[in-house]
Amino acid sequence: MHILHVVGARPNFMKVAPVHAAFRRRVGVRQSLVHTGQHYDANLSDIFFEQLGIPRPDVSLEVGSGSHAVQTAEVMIRFEKTVLELKPDLVLVYGDVNSTVAATLVCAKLGTKIAHVEAGLRSFDRTMPEEINRLVTDQLADVLLIPSEEAEVNLLREGVAKEKIHFVGNVMIDTLRSLLPQARMPQIPGLGDKFALVTLHRPSNVDEPDTLQRILHTLTTISARLQIVFPVHPRTKARIEGLGYRFENSDRIFAVPPLGYLECLALQQRATVVVTDSGGLQEETTALGTPCLTVRENTERPVTITHGTNTLVGTDMTLLLQEVGKILSGQGKGGRIPPLWDGCASERIADIALGTDVSRLRRAA
Ligand code: UD1
Repeated sequence: MHILHVVGARPNFMKVAPVHAAFRRRVGVRQSLVHTGQHYDANLSDIFFEQLGIPRPDVSLEVGSGSHAVQTAEVMIRFEKTVLELKPDLVLVYGDVNSTVAATLVCAKLGTKIAHVEAGLRSFDRTMPEEINRLVTDQLADVLLIPSEEAEVNLLREGVAKEKIHFVGNVMIDTLRSLLPQARMPQIPGLGDKFALVTLHRPSNVDEPDTLQRILHTLTTISARLQIVFPVHPRTKARIEGLGYRFENSDRIFAVPPLGYLECLALQQRATVVVTDSGGLQEETTALGTPCLTVRENTERPVTITHGTNTLVGTDMTLLLQEVGKILSGQGKGGRIPPLWDGCASERIADIALGTDVSRLRRAA
């Protein structure tokens, strides 16, 4: 069986790593890895391949940045040639980035079977580009591999046939569990034992100057009580520079370049609180038991709230300050590990893929 994996952006890499490894342990499987090049900076891409032990891509499409239409179209044009040439039996796509939906559209039109890892998540907010990507990908995929139970309800509501849905658990947590022993703190001179880890990159937070300015002011206020480590995504860096914003408490706020996986994991484990708009960090903090305040009005990962340590604060900065205060006074939210976030999701995926007669997968919903 020839399995082809498609990845393109940072959050895909920690998902493909354990799945590729699980298939390597099986007999009779040939694997190909395609990197679309949506993320191309060394610290958004190469470092993850190194740290996560992902083999070098067999094919690099090198699409780079662009508007959503340009990026999606470039992946489609280049990836179609790859599929025609390699003729995989099953294509695995991951998460909700533009590369995911682009590869899915190509395969659906060529009649190549698709399995979606992390299917069924919904924020119910169609202003998020990722929500559009999720909706389209799940309508077209043949095998839907879901990380949490509510995803099945979402998919059934959209008319997806029940037999296509498989509850496998969360592959991000497979990676977290296997690499936690190697997590290592980055060298940040002046950083003490207590700190907040902050990441922000959603267009809804960083592309609107007023919102970004309010968030940055609030971080300055928080930093008077708690040091802040802020790895800055390229999109966010450009927007902060565009505002001409300078942090006042530069000895309390450490704005650093994007970090590797092992460094980010160590920071999340040791942080007093994580303030973020990332989907992955909401999940990782739940797995680690670290309080997480999510600067979004909604989340496609509600299990991190019902089971985990996550609290939505939206862009209400008063609420953010209140919640940080609660955590500092020892009243932070506890949590428990969601079902099947047990480190074995990738093995379940391999079982399902190899136990399926791909040629018999139906195209019908
Ligand atoms: C993408 C995903 C988002 C994911 C995020 C993680 C989509 C729609 N969004 O958002 O779901 O949470 O990745 O980081 O797919 N840039 C660089 N270097 C790079 C890549 C990008 O400098 O290696 C800059 C470019 O200016 C680019 C901007 O970052 O225009 C945004 O990159 P893009 O891939 O469009 O989306 P992200 O915001 O990274």
